[in-house]
Amino acid sequence: MKNRLRIYICTFILQIILSIGILTSYIPAEEKVVLLGPGTSCITSSCHTDMGTKKYVHAIGVNAKLCNKCHAIIKEGEHRFKEIPPDVRPLCAQCHSEELPPPADIKGTPPKVISKDEEIKFHAPFAEGKCTECHDAHESDFYKHLKLQYPENFYASFSVEIYSLCYKCHKEMNETLTEPRTLTATRFRNGNLNLHVRHVNKEKGRTCRACHLHHGSKGPALMRETFPFGSRMLTIKYEKTDTGGSCGPACHTQARYDRYAPVYSPIKTSPRPGEDATEEELGLSRERDMQKENEEKNSKNLKTISHEGEKR
Ligand code: HEC
Ligand code: HEC
Ligand code: HEC
Ligand code: HEC
Ligand code: HEC
Repeated sequence: MKNRLRIYICTFILQIILSIGILTSYIPAEEKVVLLGPGTSCITSSCHTDMGTKKYVHAIGVNAKLCNKCHAIIKEGEHRFKEIPPDVRPLCAQCHSEELPPPADIKGTPPKVISKDEEIKFHAPFAEGKCTECHDAHESDFYKHLKLQYPENFYASFSVEIYSLCYKCHKEMNETLTEPRTLTATRFRNGNLNLHVRHVNKEKGRTCRACHLHHGSKGPALMRETFPFGSRMLTIKYEKTDTGGSCGPACHTQARYDRYAPVYSPIKTSPRPGEDATEEELGLSRERDMQKENEEKNSKNLKTISHEGEKR
């Protein structure tokens, strides 16, 4: 009985608080605009004080005089800015596009990464101009002012944390980097031997950049054609097939992988953990993959059909 009374009283009080909240939200707040005198700095003892203090700084993004390169002021003298669009490429292109020379009033040489080369298949977030999903435009504690951790070098001692940046979106990567044997986690497998794990998950593991480009590449699956090793550029020669692929001879002799008919090349490697899949398991995994592929194809077709419908 006592408990029920308590609940009644509590809900009553909550309702009152809620209605006050709703009522006051209809009273228009007086718009308070901070005024900017001519030549005001954006970083002063009271405004944006901590900008430029992190480990990796994008010089342009913490320069008190150049904020307006990306934050366009709506009305001169007022601290009000146009909204940053979801596609930030036009902002970054001012300095990072192959087509444009960087503005004359900046120091430093911005690396050119935005290209109109039609042969390049861009990483989806890059193509959509979601640069700031990965980079902070101002500064961060991570290499290349990335928003999350990602290793800096060709080799790194493996842990899940150092790849936080990739895991942010690739939730499906659950087992890709950790399960030595799998028939589902990745397409980069020889039978059930997970080749991502073989390359990446080691004391001296290769980081994603050994094989992939982060922004885009001319090959399939963001596979790069060459990679820098010391002062040399080595060729990868990755070729994709319907059921696997091949690679070499930069790091090892030409090696092939096939998801359903594993090919074990005579490369000297550390012992393979776990057990090979049986013929039957491989057969089943092939059927499963085919089915999944067909479903994906069908849903894509359906989408194009409905789009055409819209056009008519
Ligand atoms: C190279 C482009 C660029 C420059 C230069 C730049 N910003 Fe930004 N800023 C952005 C983007 C993009 C966002 C949106 C947040 C995001 O996507 O990470 C943003 C967001 C912000 C925000 C909103 C809070 C937040 O972090 O989301 C503040 C405040 C800000 N910027 C202040 C500044 C100041 C002050 C300067 C100059 C010292 C500056 N910015 C220079 C691109 C820039
Ligand atoms: C007004 C010119 C300008 C704009 C706009 C600009 N950058 Fe830069 N950026 C530079 C310059 C100059 C460098 C060279 C290194 C430095 O000075 O920080 C650079 C370097 C970088 C680097 C490499 C940093 C390093 O440590 O090597 C990244 C990453 C980067 N910019 C991302 C972006 C992104 C993302 C945007 C858009 C949100 C953007 N930049 C917009 C001028 C610009
Ligand atoms: C999926 C994450 C991701 C997205 C999205 C992304 N980048 Fe990057 N970017 C990286 C990584 C990782 C590096 C570091 C590459 C390396 O050092 O191997 C990098 C490096 C850079 C560099 C430095 C290149 C150099 O030679 O030093 C610039 C400039 C840059 N990015 C700009 C951009 C711009 C502009 C966009 C959007 C059009 C963008 N990035 C989108 C992950 C991303
Ligand atoms: C902002 C989200 C985002 C981040 C962060 C991100 N990716 Fe992606 N990535 C995607 C999307 C979306 C696709 C397209 C997926 C598809 O087509 O099924 C993709 C595709 C890929 C592909 C190609 C797959 C294929 O079959 O063609 C590779 C390889 C890849 N990402 C590697 C990386 C690596 C390495 C990192 C970390 C440096 C990373 N991604 C970070 C969103 C992201
Ligand atoms: C030794 C080369 C190599 C390294 C290192 C590597 N990958 Fe891959 N990755 C591949 C190949 C090859 C494919 C394409 C497999 C196929 O389609 O047959 C691939 C495919 C992918 C895909 C598509 C889905 C899948 O698994 O088939 C993603 C996502 C991906 N890689 C992410 C990463 C990330 C994140 C890293 C770093 C932690 C990384 N890769 C390191 C070679 C590599």
